[in-house]
Amino acid sequence: MNKPLKIVMGIESSCDETAVAIVREDKKILSNLILSQLKEHKAFGGVVPEIAARAHMTHIDTLIQSALEDAGITFQDLDAVAATTGPGLIGGVMVGMMAGKIIAATQDIPFVGVNHLEGHALTARLTENVEFPYLVLLVSGGHTQLLIAQGVGQYTRLGTTLDDALGECFDKSAKLMGLPYPGGPNLEAIAQTCKNPQKAIERFPLPTPLKGRKDCNFSFSGLKTAVRNHIEKLPNGNLERDDITDLAYAFETTVVDTLKDRVKNGIHQYLSTCAPDLKNNKKRPTLVVCGGVAANTPIRVMLQDLTHAHEMDFIAPPLSLCSDNGAMIAWVGIERLLIGDVSALDMAARPRWPLDPEAEALRRN
Ligand code: KG4
Ligand code: ZN
Repeated sequence: MNKPLKIVMGIESSCDETAVAIVREDKKILSNLILSQLKEHKAFGGVVPEIAARAHMTHIDTLIQSALEDAGITFQDLDAVAATTGPGLIGGVMVGMMAGKIIAATQDIPFVGVNHLEGHALTARLTENVEFPYLVLLVSGGHTQLLIAQGVGQYTRLGTTLDDALGECFDKSAKLMGLPYPGGPNLEAIAQTCKNPQKAIERFPLPTPLKGRKDCNFSFSGLKTAVRNHIEKLPNGNLERDDITDLAYAFETTVVDTLKDRVKNGIHQYLSTCAPDLKNNKKRPTLVVCGGVAANTPIRVMLQDLTHAHEMDFIAPPLSLCSDNGAMIAWVGIERLLIGDVSALDMAARPRWPLDPEAEALRRN
């Protein structure tokens, strides 16, 4: 008789989304619920940690119940429960982690404490059959990294941001332009309406930090400062609609340009490091993009072209699985359960938790 497929619940609460999902070993997502706290934080123009933690606390129980109902199962059908235990806003992380631990303890099933970044990095293995080693570009509100994913729990960081994360830079620049939170998608949308791209770039020249350097690091705080300087130099500091569309277009173009230069270096390092393994085992070299900023169309198009030019496959998970969600946490739970790598119930939450413990901390702010 075939062994029954494992079923794992994933809980995510490290930022401003309370999310619970149930995923089966055969990659079927049985339920995937996401409750955004956008409304709670909108008035503040960014995520307020205390408000986030309280909102997670209010909604987590009903969301867990609804996820089970949606999947048509009960607690007794779960083989394990996984929850994000870091990195992230510690108050929120503790809410999801404790909910997960309580389910594990009462149901007598394993608990898997998941690194949120690993959730993003392994999503492509939930949506596609991508094999290790693959190159990961993680671009979210809190992180910007290039990594080689060598196996579950095995990552080599090629580059990271020295200051702001890319999503943070999108959000802060959008706020300076008077666009509503979250800035990323709003900035992308308004940039698309630019009537004269050439003029926009000439009006608003922006720096391309670290471009041309051999490494794979990123720096975005100078870009945000340049946006501020351009706005301050406008007559009376007044931003008209055309100014916003031009500035947003110039910003988007600069981000794509900078990112392309950095990712190109990452591709070269990945291909030279992994060439023997890829060749001997007849695996396709692959770039996976993940994190909320992966929703950005000009960035996706650039990555598509870049990988095509390097004869690599390109995987961008569906938008709903790119930003924070519970399915990616449940999937790490399955991957780890299958290799017997589960966590102790006294595992602590970790506000900072690098995927590659060997990599040096480089962030300046
Ligand atoms: O991964 P995510 O949902 O949350 C974490 O930060 O972990 O990423 C959210 C970030 C925000 O900064 C948001 O503005 C950005 O992703 N984002 C975008 C787009 N959609 C979301 N940035 C640029 N273009 C977009 N279309
Ligand atoms: Zn995230």
